[in-house]
Amino acid sequence: MIVGVPKEIKNNESRVGMTPAGVFELIKNDHTVYVQSGAGEKSGFFNQDYQQAGATILDTIGQVYALSDMIVKVKEPIAEEYDLIQKGQIVFTYFHFASSEALTKAMIASKSICIAYETVEDKEGTLPLLTPMSEVAGRMAIQQGAKYLEKPAKGRGVLLGGVPGVAPGRVLVLGAGTVGIQAAKMAAGLGAHVTILDINMKRLRYVNDVMPSHVVTEFSSEFNIRKLIKTHDLIVGGVLLKGAKAPNLITRDMLKEMRPGTVIVDVAVDQGGCVETTKATTHEDPVYIIDDVVHYCVANMPGAVPYTSTVALTNVTLPYVLKLANMGWRSACNLDKSLAKGLNIVDGEVVYEGITEAFNWEPVLA
Ligand SMILES: NC(=O)c1ccc[n+]([C@@H]2O[C@H](COP(=O)([O-])OP(=O)(O)OC[C@H]3O[C@@H](n4cnc5c(N)ncnc54)[C@H](O)[C@@H]3O)[C@@H](O)[C@H]2O)c1
Repeated sequence: MIVGVPKEIKNNESRVGMTPAGVFELIKNDHTVYVQSGAGEKSGFFNQDYQQAGATILDTIGQVYALSDMIVKVKEPIAEEYDLIQKGQIVFTYFHFASSEALTKAMIASKSICIAYETVEDKEGTLPLLTPMSEVAGRMAIQQGAKYLEKPAKGRGVLLGGVPGVAPGRVLVLGAGTVGIQAAKMAAGLGAHVTILDINMKRLRYVNDVMPSHVVTEFSSEFNIRKLIKTHDLIVGGVLLKGAKAPNLITRDMLKEMRPGTVIVDVAVDQGGCVETTKATTHEDPVYIIDDVVHYCVANMPGAVPYTSTVALTNVTLPYVLKLANMGWRSACNLDKSLAKGLNIVDGEVVYEGITEAFNWEPVLA
């Protein structure tokens, strides 16, 4: 199969759909890989790295789309790319169709095979192609939080690890899922005292089993949250209710209960945030202050660390890319039910229920 890797042209996207290591595996399996010139530069992968792995570099995005059977990328195609996508071409990327009717209609019209990273789902019901980005964001939350706790950044002026003779900082993590556990682990590694909350006792038992004793668990309730925000320096929001807006666990009136310079990193901002005063920010202007509480609410945190994010993403997409290239999409999806869940639009037909629901269209036929 001919696999194409275009450069991402969405604003502020620095990741790329495949690393040279991925190219190497495809070439080993007798496929051809076209990479657009400069596609990997912002992630630290240069044309010569791809060439050494066996790829051919093409000058323009148009050439990559025109010559490839399958396109592997990161973000959903933007309007300039719609007309480049061809009938029968596999497009394997994050689509998030439910958030754009225009994109959905364009992909229906293209009659391509759209396989969305975000709906590939394993037997346990987890989303393996979303997990790495939550891992990146969870770990980054502590790095960012530590920075904004510094006085020049308007924080409390607390060093998370403390020093001999001075107690460490205190980190409150809301949600013990992927983001929460990675955040707790990083904070614990710095020596901070960590409290992690969830409503799922299984998750709390797991945290209790695997984390050091300075990571303590508590059940997530309004009572406990009101108590804990008074004494914690950094609060990380990592809750998720599948398919719904995140619950407002911290309301506006609670900010007054926090000490001035407390920092909130609301990772759940992409689902509306779990803090009432959360509004999405960008890496250019990541924080704002309300009632002396610093809010960091960047909606695409992994975008700040494109090397790590690209490698983490392609580690998990590559096995599916190889299956698709080796077997074609029909056989690959017949054999791999997780991958089949990624099928969203096939040859002009919407095949994923969530999309029709989002736009109140006629339901998908079984
Ligand atoms: N900002 C970013 O760049 C970025 C990057 C990656 C992920 N995210 C977002 O981070 C959020 C968390 O993702 P995840 O992968 O960790 O999800 P997850 O499903 O692994 O974990 C969510 C956890 O929240 C818990 N939860 C639900 N209601 C709760 C409540 N009332 N109190 C406490 N805990 C509660 C769940 O039990 C679960 O353990 C999602 O909204 C995700 O989209 C944001």
